[in-house]
Amino acid sequence: MRVVAATRDNLDAACAVIAECQEALAAQGLFQWDAQYPSRSFFREAIAAGHLHVLFDGDDIAGLAVLDGSQPPEWAAATWNHQDGPFLVIHAFAVSPRVQRRGHGGFLLAFCEDAARARGCRSIRIDAFSENAGALRFWEQHGYRFRGEVRFASKPAGHQRYYCYEKSLMPTAGLD
Ligand SMILES: CC(C)(COP(=O)(O)OP(=O)(O)OC[C@H]1O[C@@H](n2cnc3c(N)ncnc32)[C@H](O)[C@@H]1OP(=O)(O)O)[C@@H](O)C(=O)NCCC(=O)NCCS
Repeated sequence: MRVVAATRDNLDAACAVIAECQEALAAQGLFQWDAQYPSRSFFREAIAAGHLHVLFDGDDIAGLAVLDGSQPPEWAAATWNHQDGPFLVIHAFAVSPRVQRRGHGGFLLAFCEDAARARGCRSIRIDAFSENAGALRFWEQHGYRFRGEVRFASKPAGHQRYYCYEKSLMPTAGLD
């Protein structure tokens, strides 16, 4: 496996992974992603900015993540421990249902964390849909700490509550 910055040639495959995830999530009654987010234009802009990274398993794109420093305004309601210094935000973290639970997510996350350290980030922030038990377990398993719940009015009724998580990258910060 390897993770690389995506090019425009990877756009279709990245969108296909998201579509597969959307279908699998919807089958579980989870509507965290829709046509509005994460959209094809979101990924096109992320590629242009160098923010989209894709996970190759052989010749196939099996996962992706967008890395930047931008957080949605709704996250202001969370209680972040790391207020000082730059932080990395992970968006649209996804592994194809074809290969989930085989370590691909952990591999992709290790890349994200290494990228954050290389950029001098002191922490990483993410959110996850409150009903997506698999994703919540994944983040907690990798040392991400709950920082509060937020509500996205843009999501369908009954699917608006998200949990914020943060991971410290500081070895002796005293802030976990
Ligand atoms: C969350 C996600 C990225 C994990 O990717 P993955 O390749 O399956 O992750 P790994 O194989 O490295 O790790 C698997 C671990 O994650 C957790 N996990 C993942 N899916 C799970 C599920 N359906 N049920 C319970 N735990 C799950 C478990 O802790 C699991 O460890 P285990 O298999 O030993 O129990 C993947 O399930 C995914 O893309 N889901 C759809 C999109 C999504 O919700 N993304 C997260 C947005 S916040």
